[in-house]
Amino acid sequence: MTALIELDRVSRTFHTPDGPITAVDAVSLALDAGEAMCLVGESGCGKTTTGRLLAGLLRPTGGRLLYEGKDVWQTKGADLARFRRAVQLVHQDPYASLNPTRTVFQTLSAPLFRHKKARTGRQALASVNELLQRVDLTPPENFVAKHPHQLSGGQRQRVAIARALTVDPKVIVADEAVSMVDVSIRISLLNLLLALGREFGVTIVLITHDLAVARYFAREGRIGVMYLGRVVELADTESLVGDPAHPYSAALIAAIPEADPDITRTKKRVELRSAEIPSLLSLPPGCAFHPRCPLSEAGLCDVKIPELLVIPGSREVACHVAVRERTSERAAATA
Ligand SMILES: Nc1ncnc2c1ncn2[C@@H]1O[C@H](COP(=O)(O)OP(=O)(O)OP(=O)(O)O)[C@@H](O)[C@H]1O
Ligand SMILES: [Mg+2]
Repeated sequence: MTALIELDRVSRTFHTPDGPITAVDAVSLALDAGEAMCLVGESGCGKTTTGRLLAGLLRPTGGRLLYEGKDVWQTKGADLARFRRAVQLVHQDPYASLNPTRTVFQTLSAPLFRHKKARTGRQALASVNELLQRVDLTPPENFVAKHPHQLSGGQRQRVAIARALTVDPKVIVADEAVSMVDVSIRISLLNLLLALGREFGVTIVLITHDLAVARYFAREGRIGVMYLGRVVELADTESLVGDPAHPYSAALIAAIPEADPDITRTKKRVELRSAEIPSLLSLPPGCAFHPRCPLSEAGLCDVKIPELLVIPGSREVACHVAVRERTSERAAATA
């Protein structure tokens, strides 16, 4: 079956004054309609760049972006316009994305007029009211005339989501800002995105640096773990959290604070050999994680870049040692 949207070995290199850096390196990711998936990884690992590549806002320097099986960067005209409406990026820093001089009505009605979903002011107001209700800004009359500075952070986020919904998207890429600290607001926004996914079959890709958030959001979906521009593990959330295959995923999971001290006590500790993340300007040879990795093997991990491979349990992992161990375990079990 063709995926709704797919990155096929997509890379993006940036030229910086210090030299070229490959922020995203041969990332493959296929998403089905209605899926909720999370991309997680430390700051600078390429999450936002991947999100912008997925939304077609950034041109890949290698690989292809496919939408309904078609190469987006080879399409033009009506097909391209359809893609642009279908895939929306919600920048979860609405201060940066909402125009401070516009009211909520102006922000939401502009795309409705532009895409001819409303022709009169009355039609636009009816649609804006409906959108505000969908994102739980009720009663809508209290919000239509407000400017961004008159709203709380959580309310601004909801307006940004409502704006994405004006064009009936099939995919929403939500890039979570690191500065979003209020836990209750955060959870209610995650729930709102999940509800939109469930009710309208929208595929949601949440980008976060926080694995606890990923675990909550993608509990019925998948998590992709990124490290220095590559996806190192891709698996359904339960397997990834319960039994991480990549040593980097294991380290991230070991670091999640748990409310239950019993879980904390029984959780496997993962000792990294170094806390330092290498620079994209001078990546280590072989596996970029090997200088920090407790499983690293000389002559293998420092020489050869591991590909993302499918291992038993329908997950993908880019680690020479984990792939070898998990495939031989399986072979031993079936022998
Ligand atoms: N337009 C650009 N020009 C040059 N370098 C860039 C550009 N955009 C991103 N980068 C670099 O690419 C790397 C990945 O950046 P990206 O923003 O995708 O990371 P991230 O995982 O979203 O990080 P964070 O969690 O901090 O948001 C970083 O080293 C960043 O400095
Ligand atoms: Mg980012």
